[in-house]
Amino acid sequence: MKHQDLTSKMTLEEKAAILSGKTVWQTMEIPRLQIPAIFCSDGPHGLRRQAGEGDHLGLNASLPATCFPTAATIANSWNTELGEKLGSALGEEAAAQKVDVLLGPGLNIKRSPLCGRNFEYFSEDPYLAGKMAASYVRGIQSQGVYACPKHFAVNSQELRRMAMDSVLDERTLREIYLTGFEIAIKEGKAKAIMSSYNEVNGTYANENPHLLLDILRKEWGFEGIVVTDWGASNDHAKGVACRSNLEMPAPGLDSARELLEAVESKKLSMDELDQCVDDLLEAILELSVQKRGAEFDQKKHHEIAREAAEESIVLLKNEKQVLPLKAGTKVALIGDFAFEPRYQGAGSSMVNPTRLETMENEIMHYDLQLAGKCRGYRRTGENDTALEQEALHVASQSDVILYCFGLDELSESEGLDRAHMKIPQNQIDLLEKLFQCGKPVIGILSAGSATEMTWEKNLTAIVHGYLGGQASASAMLNVLTGRVNPSGHLNETYPLDYEDTPAYHYFPSEERTAQYREGIYVGYRYYDTAKKPVRYPFGYGLSYTTFAFSDLKEEENGISVKVTNTGDTDGAAVVQMYVSLPKARVFRPEKELKGFTKVFLKVGESRTVSIAFDDKTFRYWNNKTGGWEIEEGEYLVAVGENCEAIHETMTVHRAGSTVEIPDVYQKEMLPSYYNADIQNVTDSEFAKLLGHEIPSGKWSGSLNKNDAICQLYYAKSPIARLIYRILTSMKNKSEAKGKPDLNILFIYNMPFRGIAKMTAGAVSRDMVDGMVTAVNGHFFRGLGQIIKGYFVNAKANKAYEKKLEQTGAEK
Ligand code: BGC
Repeated sequence: MKHQDLTSKMTLEEKAAILSGKTVWQTMEIPRLQIPAIFCSDGPHGLRRQAGEGDHLGLNASLPATCFPTAATIANSWNTELGEKLGSALGEEAAAQKVDVLLGPGLNIKRSPLCGRNFEYFSEDPYLAGKMAASYVRGIQSQGVYACPKHFAVNSQELRRMAMDSVLDERTLREIYLTGFEIAIKEGKAKAIMSSYNEVNGTYANENPHLLLDILRKEWGFEGIVVTDWGASNDHAKGVACRSNLEMPAPGLDSARELLEAVESKKLSMDELDQCVDDLLEAILELSVQKRGAEFDQKKHHEIAREAAEESIVLLKNEKQVLPLKAGTKVALIGDFAFEPRYQGAGSSMVNPTRLETMENEIMHYDLQLAGKCRGYRRTGENDTALEQEALHVASQSDVILYCFGLDELSESEGLDRAHMKIPQNQIDLLEKLFQCGKPVIGILSAGSATEMTWEKNLTAIVHGYLGGQASASAMLNVLTGRVNPSGHLNETYPLDYEDTPAYHYFPSEERTAQYREGIYVGYRYYDTAKKPVRYPFGYGLSYTTFAFSDLKEEENGISVKVTNTGDTDGAAVVQMYVSLPKARVFRPEKELKGFTKVFLKVGESRTVSIAFDDKTFRYWNNKTGGWEIEEGEYLVAVGENCEAIHETMTVHRAGSTVEIPDVYQKEMLPSYYNADIQNVTDSEFAKLLGHEIPSGKWSGSLNKNDAICQLYYAKSPIARLIYRILTSMKNKSEAKGKPDLNILFIYNMPFRGIAKMTAGAVSRDMVDGMVTAVNGHFFRGLGQIIKGYFVNAKANKAYEKKLEQTGAEK
């Protein structure tokens, strides 16, 4: 232990108390030992430092900070140097605002396009997600601030996110859901990590020894601090036993008492407690001597936000080379998003930008003739004929129509999954009418996650800006006018229909368990293997120039390939390396991304780029040996511009590390997985993949402290069911208004135990037990427990506080 000198001076009460937050954002200080507090803040694409009352839902105002493009956007840049630059700017702002731990980046895998937080996550591919996350981490931590990659792990749906058990086999866990975190920890050297709300195979992530001890600490060598997601702690003592160091936000002293009881009953050893305190002290002492409070250059950071957005814009379609627009083109600017941009998503990541550009204002600075501008549609989805008529009139005055459209606010929010992949119908109806005008229509899309694009045929060009942050308007105009040649490539697949997606039948899980039956076939790993046509494949993106690939060669430990700019515009190519094993014995995807690089080339220029092999290039997780193994064989290394456009291939031989393969890994035993026919995996096949029976996710009848409040629907008590109806109606009303009410959503999806964990000591675990008794039909017994619990809690809190004060006075 590093700080035994200090831990030996701390009382048991102090040790127990320091392992949970004092306020929504701050840890507990111990002045008598000069142990200061540290301060945490969201978020992943800009700082959300609350000066006044804190909340973790993005409700109360935060100090102005640069709103950079969200992770889903930046992942399209495929540029880790850019990620590092952005991370460093984030870290600088954090340091300037006296923040020690920045709660990001978020790198959960986009299992389904419908997850409400996909805009906050990098990719459906763990390699791309991990590399981008590691680059952010390096950048953030270069400023003396800890990054905190989140949410560890298998946290892929918002519905009942705090009361959900993700059920998956070990191979899928390792290859798909953990590899990104592994890269962020091992290569990024993250010094903090946030455990997620959900259970993983029946055990809460925050108290999961397999995740936190076996994998994170032992295998990956993580030495930093584990911080719970806000309200994610279930059993604090079990968390501490797994070296989870900080329970957030502010559970009050009830959580500290939980640890004292656990030590007393030997559920938790003194060594385990000391280890956790020691890790936390290391972080506190390191962070508290860093430079804080300097100003940051808002103008410079706005420019970084613009550069990041420019590199991440994806050109999806460009018929007749309508783009870039010629100087002086007479354009109509149509769409509500041109006036009120969608540039970030809702929830804890929401930033109060230092400045906000709009297309409406920025277009004035470009050499374009503006024939007119109008909103065209209501962003809340209602039809509006007057707006539509105005749009058609403005369109008739122009030569080219710039149509700004996309997903509304409600579609991209923490706490709420999307119900479908469609863009609001009124926007599509207007597009159809604009198309009828017979002029080129350029679609400028704002959406942080994949959408269906049945309307694609009505557009001459599509430029996808994702959620581009506060400088997204000028970035978009720079691309439209050719000042910048687009070089973004999709971080995720755009399927033809939602029904085509691999987890279609399994997402979001309605019961207690979320079954990951599709296994390793997430995103392109499924479409590519199952030969399912898609709208735009993973890695796709056009440029105003063209590139040729040649001379693929094996190097000492990797490959090299020559890339030439064969068009008439300078531009950047994204070179993607995929690896497959055509004659594999163990089922695996058709191909998998194992390396990439971005290279800028002037017209006519050629460059030979190298991509190294690493420990992930050929490996697969073997459930029988319990380790990463390599199957012997001829591997196909394919290089191209997206997972379908492969330009060069070669074969490399690898010797195998073992011939043992899991007994169930036979074609007859797992036919769906060998054929990638995984949309309808049977119970018996999934059980074989898991290696055990499928755990039941059915409601047991009575509710327990870990059931979400929205499950009051099943409550025996009529009062509880009434509360459910009131909450549901409040939720529906807020959704009808077009803006998510995060408070209601949070309460709706929160388990009962969260009430004790998030009320700064006002509610204890005993009181929560009383609430559960009451909703299960024993109203008066429950009420009695609550009242008694209230007084016992108040007394115990006072006694604990006194003990802490006395220690202070005595020493
Ligand atoms: C979110 C985290 C966030 C935390 C603090 C939680 O609800 O899941 O991503 O960092 O709140 O705001």
